[in-house]
Amino acid sequence: MDRDVIVALDFSNKKEVLDFLDQFGDKKPFVKIGMELYYAEGPEIVKEIKERGHKIFLDLKLHDIPNTVEKAMRVLSRMNVDMVNLHAAGTTAMMEAALRGLTREDGTRPLLIAVTQLTSTDQESMERDLLIKEPIDQVVMHYAVTAKNAGLDGVVCSPLEAGKVHEACGKEFLTVTPGVRFADNDKGDQKRVMTPEQAKKIGSDFIVVGRPITKAADPKAAYERCIAEFVND
Ligand code: C5P
Repeated sequence: MDRDVIVALDFSNKKEVLDFLDQFGDKKPFVKIGMELYYAEGPEIVKEIKERGHKIFLDLKLHDIPNTVEKAMRVLSRMNVDMVNLHAAGTTAMMEAALRGLTREDGTRPLLIAVTQLTSTDQESMERDLLIKEPIDQVVMHYAVTAKNAGLDGVVCSPLEAGKVHEACGKEFLTVTPGVRFADNDKGDQKRVMTPEQAKKIGSDFIVVGRPITKAADPKAAYERCIAEFVND
């Protein structure tokens, strides 16, 4: 799949999100719908944005027993989204069940991406709360390899990890990377960031960009700058 910029629609209601998307005119960015918007507006918001012509990454991070995840994924797949995700911590059986649920009768399915360790988890909290003692970067890589072996399409990771994920899992295994900022931007609460251009150099397949576009004075211009830096050769 070709490199692309995914705009994180971190809005709390339909009006805000549609007002935002209206500013793009004929441009139809690939967008990410997360838990806040989905839980506020339900499946209808997915349908409406899809009908406007956008590709959708539905970022609901499923994690439950395999049977439940399989059935839930079947429902998401029918919504015709392009990418969904789950927690690799649900283990291989859950990831394989998710793939079964996602696969439509005609054999097509949305891309399935794994979350490894959340970036909000650090070495100390992982050891203390999860009793995982290995170095966190090894844990992240192990989750990525496990997801690959289960048949998934890629992982969400920091752009700084994208190169290593490709080394371990192959060039075709997708890296979806948040934590992107323009060189002249405020970092906000993101600690480890990269510019779109650096993310391209290191081999990210998709960058997920929120505030540098949603809070920009001219969101369409900021999106086009991302495309120019990340997608265009
Ligand atoms: O506004 P910003 O560009 O920081 O938004 C990044 C988006 O990516 C948000 O939707 C955030 O929840 C998501 N994300 C992240 N870091 C992760 C996983 C997801 O920032 N490790």
